[in-house]
Amino acid sequence: PWHMTDPQLVLTERVQQALAAAFGAEYSDADPLIRPSQFADYQANVAMSLSKRLRRAPREVAQEIADRLTAESAFPGTVEVSGPGFLNITLDDSWIAGQAAEILADPRTGVAAASAPQTVVIDYSAPNAAKEMHVGHLRTTIVGDALVRVHEHLGNKVVRQNHLGDWGTPFGMLIEHLLDIGEEAAIAQLEAGEGNEYYQAARVKFDSDPEFNKRARARVVTLQAEEPETMRLWHLFMDATVRYFNKVYHRLGVTLTDEDIAGESMYNAMLSQVCDELQDRGIAVVSDGALCVFPPGYTGREGQPLPFMIRKSDGGYGYATTDMATIRYRVQDLKADRILYVIGATQALHMSMLFDSARIAGWLPDHVRAEHVQIGSVLGSDGKMFKTRSGKSIKLLDLLDEADVRAAAVIADREYDDAARAEIAHAVGMGAVKYADLSVSHDSEYVFDFDRMLALTGNTGPYLQYATARIRSIFRRGGVAPAEATGPIVLGHPAERALALRLLGFGAAVEEMAEGSAPHKVATFLFETASAFTAFYENCPVLKEGVDEATRASRLALCALTLRVLETGLDLLGVPVPERM
Ligand code: ARG
Repeated sequence: PWHMTDPQLVLTERVQQALAAAFGAEYSDADPLIRPSQFADYQANVAMSLSKRLRRAPREVAQEIADRLTAESAFPGTVEVSGPGFLNITLDDSWIAGQAAEILADPRTGVAAASAPQTVVIDYSAPNAAKEMHVGHLRTTIVGDALVRVHEHLGNKVVRQNHLGDWGTPFGMLIEHLLDIGEEAAIAQLEAGEGNEYYQAARVKFDSDPEFNKRARARVVTLQAEEPETMRLWHLFMDATVRYFNKVYHRLGVTLTDEDIAGESMYNAMLSQVCDELQDRGIAVVSDGALCVFPPGYTGREGQPLPFMIRKSDGGYGYATTDMATIRYRVQDLKADRILYVIGATQALHMSMLFDSARIAGWLPDHVRAEHVQIGSVLGSDGKMFKTRSGKSIKLLDLLDEADVRAAAVIADREYDDAARAEIAHAVGMGAVKYADLSVSHDSEYVFDFDRMLALTGNTGPYLQYATARIRSIFRRGGVAPAEATGPIVLGHPAERALALRLLGFGAAVEEMAEGSAPHKVATFLFETASAFTAFYENCPVLKEGVDEATRASRLALCALTLRVLETGLDLLGVPVPERM
């Protein structure tokens, strides 16, 4: 399992045992503060922090820890005390090689399955039918899908929830507009991804045409009453819209299906009950005619308590009401142990008040983790939200088409036939766009820049795809299947050792991604791995004439392990790898 292979975790455990042996059991969970070091493999700084508590000189404390560590015959390395009391730890080559061999033999490549699988509900993508699906939704979709993949890989039960914006007052005018332009024309427009144009046309009439406005308002009433003909029209509208969303999902290789749709409309029937229960139990109170929860700790500008409004003064329900219902449903019906809301960072206040209100209501019990995975905005080169270009909105499919075209230019000098070229360009273009969303922490903003994301060097999708494809070509040229490259692994050259040591951290990186909802942990790890591989490959010939049999076998095994780690990691991120590149 991963905690057995990741050197930093192994050493943490060892140092903690040494601390307990030297200073008493109460020190067994002190953080040894182990970090990669430039003077050894790792450095532990715990002696410095402990010296105050122990009232002893830091160097003396460090020496005692070092003695305890190495007194144990099985310690897999050497320990040196340096400076004011650092512990410099260097691992034995044979230990690193042994651990690498273990991961190579492990079908899970060092990623342990969850010991107690959880039900993880992941709310992601969630575009609004009545508006444009924009790059912001692209990012929640891509990050959410990576989290789905990692949790499934760990053996957790994942329930995808695509909380579509598919209900509410705008649908009155959207349905009336559908009647005006005709069902066929409306369907064609929506399927083509022109929901924004459609919406704007309806909006103009709503604002300027009193007769239309009146019809739209009346339609909201029949929609709320779920009158059959109105529902038929609503379904026509939604089905066409979802067909467009599905095109985008399919194009991205995202795992969402129609089964995962649980939009706002699904909760409609629960909303009055949500409000009644909260009011009856005194958790929500009427304030200025609206029904509100006042979770403690939220105040407005003048210090007045901020309401979490679950019913407006006109009796209407809103986003907050629906989201209270999502929590109750996900905990009570879906039996969630953990709920991830992969939603824009701009909704942080809403999410925080939602979780607090749900805790107060008892709908979110202590044993259920609820997290807002905050998604930072994607910006244009002007530093503003990347939504429009020259005043027009960018259609996502057009954007992905552009990625393909630009990716084709990147590989223009390669000698492939047209079909192969198109396939590679497609994988590279999509991989570049997806990786750009995944390689930075999910809550940071970044500027959408094709040139940067398509670069073949640096922390990009194409760089990792290229590194992976290159290892595959080593095996093709060597006439060996990666599965046959089983070692034994023997470490000689420093670049070889550095690569092996890096590979040991894969399981921990995956675990960190799942624990912290942080795909960039795996992305960073893969980038560092690919860089270590590049250094290895430059210094350590594998197939070259004159390389002896044992060295070749060992290096091929390192190639095979690197390949598996890159393939598995990129798959967890949802980034495709072209066979050649
Ligand atoms: N449709 C919303 C938007 O586009 C996101 C919904 C996210 N999910 C939720 N349960 N609030 O901003």
